[in-house]
Formats: sequence, C-alpha cells, structure tokens
Amino acid sequence: MAVTLRPQDKLRTPKPTNKPPRVKLPWPLNLYQTAIGKKWVMGLTGLGLIGFVVVHMIGNLHLYEGPVEVHEYAEALRDLGGHIIPRTYVLWLMRLGLVTMFGLHIHSAVTLTRMSGASNTRYESTRDYAAANFASRTMRWTGPIIALFLLYHLADLTWGWFDDDWVRGDPYGNADRSLSRIPVALFYIVANIALAVHLFHGVFSMFTSLGINSPKFNPMRRPIALAIAGLILLGNLSFPIMVQAGVIEEEVPLEQLLEQHDSAEEASP
Ligand code: HEM
Repeated sequence: MAVTLRPQDKLRTPKPTNKPPRVKLPWPLNLYQTAIGKKWVMGLTGLGLIGFVVVHMIGNLHLYEGPVEVHEYAEALRDLGGHIIPRTYVLWLMRLGLVTMFGLHIHSAVTLTRMSGASNTRYESTRDYAAANFASRTMRWTGPIIALFLLYHLADLTWGWFDDDWVRGDPYGNADRSLSRIPVALFYIVANIALAVHLFHGVFSMFTSLGINSPKFNPMRRPIALAIAGLILLGNLSFPIMVQAGVIEEEVPLEQLLEQHDSAEEASP
C-alpha cells in the first residue's frame, strides 16, 4: 500500500539524527552505539525486569500465609541450586543479573533520550509529536521515582538501616514494622502507581522496540500492557494497605513461631 505524506508530515530539517560515536567499538558492542541497538537493550532488559517484578509480587503473596511461610520462602531462595551449588550462589548470580539489567536499562534509556534530544529531526505534525512525547515524558518521572523507591526499599528491608528492631531472616516482621508507618505506606502506594504507569508505557513500547509491529498484533498491545501493569499494581498495593488494616501483622516473634513449628513437626508421626 502506498503511503502518502501530508505536507505537515514532512521533515523540517533533513539532518542526520545523531552524531557518529567518538570511539568505534568492535562488533557486537558497536550495535549498542546505534539507536536501534539501545532500543533492543532497553526492551530486553525491560522484559527481564518485568519478569522480576512479577515473580517478586507473586512471592510476596506469602505474606498472606504468615511469618513462618515467608521465612521458609526466603530460605528456599537461598537454597536454590540444591546440594549441587553452594548455598546462596544462585541467589547472588540472580542478584548480579538484576543489577546488570537495571544498569543497562537506565543507561540505554538516558543515552537514547540524549540521542533524540541531540537530533534535529522534528515533525511538524503536532498531534503525533505530542503523543510520542507523552509516553517518554511519563517514563522520565516514573523512572526516577522507581529508582528512589528501590534504594529506600533495599536500605529499609534488606539492610535494616531505618529500623532498630530489624531482624535478619524475618522479612515478614521487617515488612510489617516498615509498612505500619503511614508515610512509608503512602510512599509505597505512590511508588507502585508510578511503577504501574511505567510498566504500561514500557510494555506498550517494548513491542515496537523489539520489532513486533504488525496490524494483526498491534490491537493486542494495549490490553496486554494494561493486564500486566494492572495485576502488578493490584498485588503490590495490597501489601501496604493490608499491613495498615492489620491483616498482615506479626503478633508473635518469628523465633518463637519457629520453635513451635519445629516441635509440632517433631511431634507429628
Ligand atoms: C509493594 C510491595 C513490596 C513488598 C511488600 C516488598 C517486600 C520485599 C521484601 C520482604 C524483601 C526481602 C528483604 C530481605 O529480607 O532481604 C524485598 C526485597 C527486594 N525487593 Fe521488594 N517488595 C515490594 C515491592 C518491590 C518492587 C516494586 C520492587 C522493584 C521495583 C522491589 C524490589 C526488590 C528487590 C530488588 C529486593 C532485593 C532482593 C534480594 O535481595 O534478593 N520490591 N522486597
């Protein structure tokens, strides 16, 4: 089908979209120096990070079972690899992958934004330009909120910086004490709304970044993006709300619960 350009669709300045890189890297690293290469890295790392967020949300549903179950889940994560690989090695490998994906995702996003900012190409069609910009502008405020949340989240729950009663190996009690503070619960709610908006735009544009663009599939992009972002939002918002409502609450210290649990197991035939 022939595409007819309207006068307002024509490029105002037909200049090259980005400067050639100062240092030319060898193949395949040089692919990352192009906008398409960066889009692929952003799309693939985004996909990996969505995988983490989905698994993390599902794992956190153990909070509805109780402190012992959450402790056992955390232990199972440390024991991944069974008796073949030393304890916590697989978990650390996954953490390394996660940090690498975060780093590459942020780097590709920032450098891509700089590339398009340096480009002199501007479309005169204001409607298309505004629509494309809305998504990227949203990503620019939701991205930093998520990064800030993540730093706080790790410092609070993983390293115990803000809680004098923080107990290593008791994620249930730590999460309960943290989310019982109203400002923290509110921060979780705001950050997870930002995450959902980011995921919606991210999933939607990921298909284009990865070259999945066909008239048959395109109508599915919006419902898929809505379903993923919506499910994660629902699950993640439930935790601060349910802690505030007293549904998730550590009434007895984990140590005591584990003793009761062990003696009950020993007593059973
Ligand atoms: C909204 C509710 C959330 C709850 C209740 C929650 C809860 C937790 C808990 C209990 C831990 C374990 C801390 C520890 O004992 O080491 C944890 C770790 C972590 N969370 Fe979350 N989380 C939430 C959302 C998120 C989100 C939205 C992200 C990412 C954007 C995230 C990223 C992480 C990371 C990276 C870790 C460290 C994992 C590790 O050390 O292996 N969390 N979270």
